[in-house]
Amino acid sequence: MKNIHFLIGLILTVLIAGCQEARMKVVSLKVEMQENPEGVEVTNPRFSWQITSAIPDLVQQSYRIQAARSEDDLNKEENLVWDSGTIESDLSVLIPYEGEKLLSRYAYFWRVKVTTNHGETGWSDVNNWSMGILNKTEWKAKWIGEDRLSNPGETAEGSTRLAARYLRKFFTAGKKARRAMLYVSGLGSYEAYLNGKRVSEDVFAPTVSWYPERVYYNVYDITSLMKKNENLLAVKLGNGRYFGMRQSDTQVFGLPRLLAQLEIEYSDGTSELIVSDESWKITSKGPIIANNEFDGEEYDARLEMSQWNKAGFDDSNWEAVDIMGDPGGKLTAQPNPNIRVMEEISPIGMIELHDGRFILDMGQNMVGWLKITKLYGKKDQPITFRFAELLNPDSTLYLANIRSAKVADKYIPGENGSFSWEPSFVYHGFRFVEITGLEERPDLSSFSGKVIYDRMETTGDFKTSNEIINQTFKNAYWGIRGNYRGMPTDCPQRDERQGWLGDRATGCFGEAFIFDNALLYGKWVQDIEDSQSPEGSVSVVSPRYWTIYNDDVTWPAAWFYAVKMLYYHYGNSEPIKKHYPSMKRYLERIQEVSMQDCILTKDTYGDWCMPPERQDLIHSADPARKTAGPVLSTTMYYSLLNLMTEFAEITGHRDDIPAYEELAANIRNAYNAAYFNTDSARYDNNTVTANILSLQLGLAPEGYEKRLFENIVRKTELDFDSHVSTGVLGIQHLMRGLTQHGNVDLAYKIATNTSYPSWGYMIEKGATTIWELWNGDTADPAMNSGNHVMLLGDLLIWYYEDLAGIKNYPGSVAYKKLLMEPKFPEGHSHVKASYRSVYGEIKSEWLKEGSSFSWEITIPANTSAIVRLPQEIIIIQPEGNGIRKVNETDSGLVIELGSGAYRLSNI
Ligand code: BGC
Repeated sequence: MKNIHFLIGLILTVLIAGCQEARMKVVSLKVEMQENPEGVEVTNPRFSWQITSAIPDLVQQSYRIQAARSEDDLNKEENLVWDSGTIESDLSVLIPYEGEKLLSRYAYFWRVKVTTNHGETGWSDVNNWSMGILNKTEWKAKWIGEDRLSNPGETAEGSTRLAARYLRKFFTAGKKARRAMLYVSGLGSYEAYLNGKRVSEDVFAPTVSWYPERVYYNVYDITSLMKKNENLLAVKLGNGRYFGMRQSDTQVFGLPRLLAQLEIEYSDGTSELIVSDESWKITSKGPIIANNEFDGEEYDARLEMSQWNKAGFDDSNWEAVDIMGDPGGKLTAQPNPNIRVMEEISPIGMIELHDGRFILDMGQNMVGWLKITKLYGKKDQPITFRFAELLNPDSTLYLANIRSAKVADKYIPGENGSFSWEPSFVYHGFRFVEITGLEERPDLSSFSGKVIYDRMETTGDFKTSNEIINQTFKNAYWGIRGNYRGMPTDCPQRDERQGWLGDRATGCFGEAFIFDNALLYGKWVQDIEDSQSPEGSVSVVSPRYWTIYNDDVTWPAAWFYAVKMLYYHYGNSEPIKKHYPSMKRYLERIQEVSMQDCILTKDTYGDWCMPPERQDLIHSADPARKTAGPVLSTTMYYSLLNLMTEFAEITGHRDDIPAYEELAANIRNAYNAAYFNTDSARYDNNTVTANILSLQLGLAPEGYEKRLFENIVRKTELDFDSHVSTGVLGIQHLMRGLTQHGNVDLAYKIATNTSYPSWGYMIEKGATTIWELWNGDTADPAMNSGNHVMLLGDLLIWYYEDLAGIKNYPGSVAYKKLLMEPKFPEGHSHVKASYRSVYGEIKSEWLKEGSSFSWEITIPANTSAIVRLPQEIIIIQPEGNGIRKVNETDSGLVIELGSGAYRLSNI
């Protein structure tokens, strides 16, 4: 023990201690991770809640859940379908239902109360959920649509072109509805209305899938939209990803189609079904004359059909619908929320070009569409909007990096005068909009940008004393949400927009600090399984709108990493259980076709997008910079075997473990024999990627770690002037690796560089999102998307885990037990981070000024933390609050804290 007792005492005060009377409340009730979800299909849904309280060191000791078929029954504790009784447990996340069998399409109500070490909460508010259609035979609806191309120029090949379909069904209710539930799917995308009103604000519904395997349907409670007598159910159908987009090899599944089933329960106890069938009417002669996510939407206001979605409309010139084929996939209640307009932003400027075109600047590279609030148009004179991320030096749109996507929305006014408009079935990735066809300069207030992505909570905020880090975080925030489109996509602007696996392997983990992406990724790992070949190959684009089975490892690894992320961040072990057999099949397949003498030989993409030696190159041509394919695939495969060992433990497949371990050991030996030079402690050609992957994924021979790490540092400092030298693979471990092995200062340097290559360089060049290439400003435009998130690697994880010091304690998941251990790079003075975990909000804010240090932390109720700090700090422990234990060790102080808000300081 050193002289720490004589140092200025660290004062640890419990900020809100002493308020023992403060109330405890159970809040944030969720079923299958959603509040009041409609259409749950799992037969044992899982319940989660949080406890809020200002009382420190609050631990749940038991819980009791009750569920019933009506709120009244629940309140009276009658006819309960489940009363869990008092269950002694401190878990409050994903507790499975164990009551009576849940019935198809029924609504249920539930509440929970908990006992804690500080007393009992009352019953929570009542929440509800409803079940989906559990038996296939209950589907009475038929797939309907218009089974032909009937407008000029329409084509299903190459550059596909098709008008939207409008469908209507009139019915008379005759009595008051007590409950009206709509079960609906429309491929590619639908917008449903009852009596002229949207059934929800969802857009691009349902979520994308590999349609031959799975088709998602949505469930909406539309009771409040029902009228007593005449009713009109209407749907608009767009192409989405079903009537595939242009680019020759993108799958076209068929023409759009609708499946809808409205179940009405009347207050007199009778019920009625309105289903999609031969009795519906359809037209494709409405105003949306073309819609295509790559090319844009064309709207001809001359064809508007005012009131088309209301009962009084004359549809005598509409056609009878065609019965369409079943898309083939299993009808599945969608487990994740749909996309919504999540924000609306205003443009910041406009330029007029000499030829009368206007260029609008949204001030931010965003994803969504442009809404016209008021513009003046002339009958028959089209106004065209084209979208781009950048401008050329002459202020025209820079479209080279958009490739073959036409990105043009068109509006044809039906009369002279003002109009407002926004598209329905298209989105763009853009900062700038070119407007052609206006007669006079519009007002900036005529436009707004609708920002769309999957409905989810923002869970994290992060600020520091360094502006480059702050702007990088902001760019990441915009980039990540802009690339959620029912699946994580590579980019939102050019002619790809696909679920490329490799872009997300480690990234998904960092994203989860900022967004509650649990349900999106839970759904995407299913897409990956749905896209798997019978032989076990994984398509590196999933859903496999492009089927690419190349039997390599580095891109498919994202499947395993995402499944692990769902467990680690959210405590959800279900995806591990569900996908275990298919993941195992993939590993076996790879062993059969891609492994020779325990080395994984196949690799397609290399360390994709590493900074090349010349700024005009996309990929490096210098063998000294490139990491060999087998190094990448062997290290990654090794990490997958280790993950499978963990998964086997979690899923009870313990018999599989010896084989994984044996293979892993053999691979490690073979790999080190082939690629490790014991004299120089280097892997292969000594790239940072080869060395960091081997070190961080656990392949380095014992005793060589330190020298290997020194090689990483030397290479980075000497050959790359303390800049990043890795591509998409090396970057997944770089920041944490440097920090764990003791060089947080080098990690910090890389994080705050502003010269090429760095995230800061992108910012210096005006980026408001993250680029696809480190040299995205100078490389071939064919591959310089301004909005790819893959180069983030483990940066966000490093922000949270290392700079803010927020991470799971080893062995803990869902932040039930935290390890709070910030790292303090030289010259960095302030971090303020928050992350809303499934147990509640975690906060960490530290400030270092001269010799003074203070740190405020918040640990959510029913969780605890181990806090580690350098040893010069001493604790003065106030009595009677959440400080459970204080140990002084050689490497510093180890403090165990219960929940609460604390301030630690040395002044
Ligand atoms: C995509 C990437 C993807 C890569 C794979 C690119 O065109 O945009 O993000 O991972 O191809 O090679």
